[in-house]
Amino acid sequence: MGYWQGKRALVTGGCSFIGSHLVDALVARGASVRIADDLSSGTRANVQRLLDRKAVEFLEVDLLSPGAAEGAVDGMEHVFHLAANHGGRGYIDLHQAACATNLALDGLVIRAAHRGGVEKFTYASSGCVYPEHLQHDPSHVLYLTEDLVQPPYAADNLYGWAKLMCELTLQAYHRDYGFKCASLRYFTAYGERCLENHAVIAMIARAFVKQDPFIVWGTGEQIRNWTYVSDIVEGTIRAAERIDDGTAVNLGTMERTRVIDAAQMILDRTSVKARLQPDPTKPTGPYNRVCDNSLGKRLLGWEPQVSFSDGLDRTIRWYYDTKNATTVKADFERLLTER
Ligand SMILES: NC(=O)c1ccc[n+]([C@@H]2O[C@H](COP(=O)([O-])OP(=O)(O)OC[C@H]3O[C@@H](n4cnc5c(N)ncnc54)[C@H](O)[C@@H]3O)[C@@H](O)[C@H]2O)c1
Repeated sequence: MGYWQGKRALVTGGCSFIGSHLVDALVARGASVRIADDLSSGTRANVQRLLDRKAVEFLEVDLLSPGAAEGAVDGMEHVFHLAANHGGRGYIDLHQAACATNLALDGLVIRAAHRGGVEKFTYASSGCVYPEHLQHDPSHVLYLTEDLVQPPYAADNLYGWAKLMCELTLQAYHRDYGFKCASLRYFTAYGERCLENHAVIAMIARAFVKQDPFIVWGTGEQIRNWTYVSDIVEGTIRAAERIDDGTAVNLGTMERTRVIDAAQMILDRTSVKARLQPDPTKPTGPYNRVCDNSLGKRLLGWEPQVSFSDGLDRTIRWYYDTKNATTVKADFERLLTER
């Protein structure tokens, strides 16, 4: 019998892009899954197939409200904590106070899980915990290793600080109470169900509505390592099985891709002809963010299975099959910066 067969697992934020893929994978492995989500950015549609066949329990709840976290963790063996006030770069730069609510949210969920006797806690952290000053120069071939997050800390925005505080809180719970936990630093996930407030989907959407000139946020020289959602999910599940001591592990590819090149790949694949026009006044984030993933290989036997090229093909296909150009066009600017 597999590790997850019959295990009671809570996925907070289980209606989100990544959360819903994680729920799919846990259900497929035989876990008994409860989702707690307030639908503030996640959608019921993301898990509707599971709801229809009563394959998951769904609590529509704001985990910040009194008693909600305690109710959500009740009877659970594992908690995967993905609920967060979060969006893409535009959102986290422009909505700092909203992102700061994650400090409270994470504290409440950890405390409830520990007091409620949850055996393991797995946390969706982020590449935003890394010091910004290391990530300025795109000509510098740098792979961020986990140990670069150390005093004096310098996370990316209040969103990144909250992720960092949650990692440190979990490590303290492990030291002080023996609480079993792990954090995964996701690096720019993309794939089916991702929203337009994240760069890859935003660029696919620009091609979809045939934007010309095609706006690229930043100079376009900024480098990312986009990571396909199934790889993120696999690493998260393996960490829940294998890491107990609060260690934080990068989940990301080591493919260094310039944003301007990603934009061109999308134009080529969609056969859209448009002039690329960088706009450095737009939220851009660090210019050089790519992780080292050797710790994940060592601790989890994990490595990304989907190249950016293949993941992009799948994501474009999904976007073109499921979206309506008139609807996307009508709401375009809001989709880029809201959640
Ligand atoms: N997408 C990425 O590239 C990326 C990168 C790093 C980390 N992460 C983290 O992964 C997790 C999932 O992100 P995502 O991009 O799939 O979508 P997301 O950020 O939209 O997911 C957050 C989910 O939490 C829910 N939620 C928010 N506040 C809540 C509250 N108070 N109570 C209950 N539910 C609440 C939302 O409705 C949503 O379903 C988040 O924690 C995010 O910070 C994502």
